[in-house]
Amino acid sequence: MKKRIGILTSGGDCQGLNAAIRGVGKALYEALGDDLEILGIKDGYRGLIYGDYFSLEVSRFSGILTHGGTILGTSRQPFKEMRVIGDDGLDKVKAMKSNYRQMGLDCLVILGGNGTHKTANLLREEGLNVVTLPKTIDNDLWGTDMTFGFDSALEIASHVIDCIHTTADSHSRIFIVEVMGHKVGWLPLYAGVASGADVILLPEIPYDIDSVVNTISERERKGKHFSILAVAEGAISKAEAKMSKKELKAKRENMNYPSISYRIAAEIREHTGKEVRVTVPGHFQRGGDPSPTDRVLATRFGAAAAKLILNEQYGYMVALQNNKIVPVPLENVAGKLKSVPLDLDLIQYARDIGITFGDK
Ligand code: F6P
Repeated sequence: MKKRIGILTSGGDCQGLNAAIRGVGKALYEALGDDLEILGIKDGYRGLIYGDYFSLEVSRFSGILTHGGTILGTSRQPFKEMRVIGDDGLDKVKAMKSNYRQMGLDCLVILGGNGTHKTANLLREEGLNVVTLPKTIDNDLWGTDMTFGFDSALEIASHVIDCIHTTADSHSRIFIVEVMGHKVGWLPLYAGVASGADVILLPEIPYDIDSVVNTISERERKGKHFSILAVAEGAISKAEAKMSKKELKAKRENMNYPSISYRIAAEIREHTGKEVRVTVPGHFQRGGDPSPTDRVLATRFGAAAAKLILNEQYGYMVALQNNKIVPVPLENVAGKLKSVPLDLDLIQYARDIGITFGDK
């Protein structure tokens, strides 16, 4: 009997989504040929909710390996709103289940990050056959050593810091490069180390502005008239770390800075009298072509997901563990964040070579 597989990409995009879609599609068509139909669901869960999909012929999987973005489109559909009936009276979970059945799917392949995995697990609990692939530039999905997208974003973020380095040196300025990562700091940590940042501020390690200023002043004393800070979007001061979510939100809103980096810049300027500039590469970090490493990882994940489907092993995320692709049960992944552990060897090695994290 013909197998019908649905596929969707959800949440923020990243490099390697098309490579992963191609991996799943090609491996399934290789194994099943004419006994297969793949349906592309548009714009993430939105397409599943509203029944917006199209047929993906085998030819659609060619020529997309190196292309950034996603041929399926994506959207953010917050997990916390999934069970909330909207103004239009639509029961989103019921709609997704009903469209899954109407499409006649044997399995739904979902490519996404943290929020996406919570909804994927919800759909599994509701009885749908689901297989997922871990994507995000944040590398913060629990259960996998690496997500695809991270390596490409790292290349971009590092390149930005490299370029800033030369101009910072010419002008004897302090530069802050704000790297993506609201809740976790894998990207700013790796980009900072890869590009020789002097200070790295992560959400996991609350900073003290005096410590940051001391590092800059100490460098001045040693004749180094510029400093580079790699600051996570979600960097947080020690005082803020003690606040409730509500208090923190109110404090940040009152401060009126476009982002944390601008506040840190103003504080450094005030303490040192030096010129400080801020660079925010933002969504640049998610754009463009996937790196060769991401293409390979996404292809491995894609082909491994196809294998799970062929074996009718549902309810799993394909993950990288100790350089092997393994299935991890969705219920173990959903709702867990893979933060940077404070005892990570890279943090210690970074400290050993004089990088500071603003905490000491
Ligand atoms: O999760 C990926 C990510 O790029 C984060 O690093 C960033 O904080 C967030 O998405 C930005 O989200 P949006 O694309 O919705 O602005």
